[in-house]
Amino acid sequence: MKKERILVTGGTGYIGSHTVVELQAAGYSVVIIDNLSNSNVEVLDGIERISGIRPDFVQADCTDINALKDLFAKYPDIKGIINFAASKAVGESVEKPILYYRNNLNTLMNLLDLMGPNGVKGIVFSSSCTVYGEPDVNPVTEQSPIKTATSPYGNTKQISEEIITDVIRSGAPFKSVILRYFNPVGAHPSAEIGELPNGVPQNLIPYITQTAIGIRKELSVFGDDYPTPDGSCIRDFINVVDLAKAHVKAMDRMLEDPEAEPIEIYNLGTGNGVSVLELINTFESATGVKVPYKIVGRRTGDIEKVWGDPSHANKVLGWKADTPLADTMRSAWAWQCKLRERGIM
Ligand code: UD1
Repeated sequence: MKKERILVTGGTGYIGSHTVVELQAAGYSVVIIDNLSNSNVEVLDGIERISGIRPDFVQADCTDINALKDLFAKYPDIKGIINFAASKAVGESVEKPILYYRNNLNTLMNLLDLMGPNGVKGIVFSSSCTVYGEPDVNPVTEQSPIKTATSPYGNTKQISEEIITDVIRSGAPFKSVILRYFNPVGAHPSAEIGELPNGVPQNLIPYITQTAIGIRKELSVFGDDYPTPDGSCIRDFINVVDLAKAHVKAMDRMLEDPEAEPIEIYNLGTGNGVSVLELINTFESATGVKVPYKIVGRRTGDIEKVWGDPSHANKVLGWKADTPLADTMRSAWAWQCKLRERGIM
């Protein structure tokens, strides 16, 4: 049976592109809107090579409400939205807060505003474990306290969750699922799509793969004096394809299951905390490639340790992140090698 049409904002980005592949595999038809500010149009070729289907694509900015109105006029059958379109660099958000508040909040408000009049039944929102700040207890559950945001980026995620909650409580004729991601890593096993950061990577995995291939001289590990077993920070690294699949489960439930609440929140993580140094070791042993690194001082604003309890998503969505970390590391490396092969990096 053919499923509904889904609008994926930010669908040529890292998590968006992997999710488009999984939505299409599940039978949904997809239209992507992306302003290509942090991705490029060739991602559509990668999606098509994996799926055999090229998603529809509109190049426009979601902060432009008229562009969104045109899109809904062209695609009157959109039943669900997944909102990935957002700026996401923590450091940049401290320097350019208005850019972050404008992009992330106006995009969300425009979408929420247009959903009712256009008959859209639900929206899945990309949130982050950043809303938990430095947790008092790990793993964090969905009930763990929300801490004051440490960056404008983090604050946009908290405010977005509040905006969605208020809109749903006001009696909006649609539902919402908020997904709090831990640290998404890796690439599609085909190496046709993956993460492609602009400039010098701020995140750990692209820095590791770029160092391993020789683009960067060495990785700086930010701190080995944290009160953790090996002194480095601990995160919950989740495979991006596992993460993408959770979006399909969330969409299915939101659109089809009468038991779905008007608003639901899920942690998307593995349940395992892995330290930065353990991750480097896993990468090296999985790929046989050395990552030169040095220990430097702590990075301002870093959380010491955070990992998630995914049991709510396991139970209600029937979803589990089960790709072994070594496989995920090999997929990240295969993607880096593919970028080199194509002369991109
Ligand atoms: C951060 C945000 C998260 C956001 C994500 C995507 C917080 C608390 N977390 O995650 O919400 O979704 O970025 O941009 O705001 N590291 C190094 N060397 C490097 C890079 C990173 O040692 O060159 C370490 C960091 O100190 C950290 C770990 O690796 O301990 C992970 O860092 P990163 O990949 O940047 O993600 P987060 O900071 O966890």
